[in-house]
Amino acid sequence: MNPSLSALGLKIVAVANQKGGVGKTMTALSLASGLAKRGQKVLAVDGDPQGDLSLFFGAETSGDAGGNGMAGGLGGLLAELSAGRSADLAGRIVRRVRRNLDLLAGPPRRLRSERSDAELRAAAPGFAAALQRAAANYDWVIVDCSPSDGALERLLLSACQAVLIPLEFQLFSIAGLQAMLDTVASCGSEAGREIRVHALIFTKAENRVGRVEDYRKLFSEFRLPIFEICKSEYLPRSVERSRTIWEGGPASYAARDYARVIDKAFLEVQP
Ligand SMILES: Nc1ncnc2c1ncn2[C@@H]1O[C@H](COP(=O)(O)OP(=O)(O)OP(=O)(O)O)[C@@H](O)[C@H]1O
Ligand SMILES: [Mg+2]
Repeated sequence: MNPSLSALGLKIVAVANQKGGVGKTMTALSLASGLAKRGQKVLAVDGDPQGDLSLFFGAETSGDAGGNGMAGGLGGLLAELSAGRSADLAGRIVRRVRRNLDLLAGPPRRLRSERSDAELRAAAPGFAAALQRAAANYDWVIVDCSPSDGALERLLLSACQAVLIPLEFQLFSIAGLQAMLDTVASCGSEAGREIRVHALIFTKAENRVGRVEDYRKLFSEFRLPIFEICKSEYLPRSVERSRTIWEGGPASYAARDYARVIDKAFLEVQP
């Protein structure tokens, strides 16, 4: 039996994979909103300059408004930290995007041209400290990462206690997964602590002629808990209407699958 995050006392969780389009944002959104629906107090952090999570909640990505990178959200926070100033998350959070759910909006699209890797590396310890302080007010902090493995992703991973890796059932996912695990391990050793890879989440799973079983066997060498989210039209359709899966398709198989992740990977109380 694998212990839940709650049993382990870990609450700052990154949803990350360097590969694009594997369901990171969908997973971060569904888990954050699902936990909030269960009465847990949740902070969702949009760590992706694409700003998909911010867009979903109708929040402006930071920096775009003022044009000087000093506005709210993650972009504003990183600008302060890069300038060597101490900074807090609290004043930059969009409150109550849903009941029990707050949002730290994403950095501006141009973040990578605005902030050098050296600046982001220098900002990393300050960011980790700020995220940890903010986490004291929440049951969970869920961080949606961008599909890359640069200084921004390392800053985000290093500030988290655990990582969930969404991926697709494909042979090609194996090499990508190994690279991701290496990145997490190297961020952990740099930060001087273990960052727990908590589970793999196979999104868009189609159980045709035992495929899921085949892939489970293939990925069992990684010795990580595996969850599946079925491929579901409800997910993209709900998102298009600015609805979470709990609002747009609460009785769907996808909702059932994400609820299982919440129960088993997050909340389960073990004796
Ligand atoms: N279980 C699912 N069933 C069907 N479609 C899905 C499922 N999960 C995600 N999708 C769709 O797959 C696409 C990619 O999902 P998403 O944006 O969450 O991936 P991502 O990893 O965050 O992408 P990026 O790397 O660009 O940030 C979206 O169109 C989304 O609606
Ligand atoms: Mg995304």
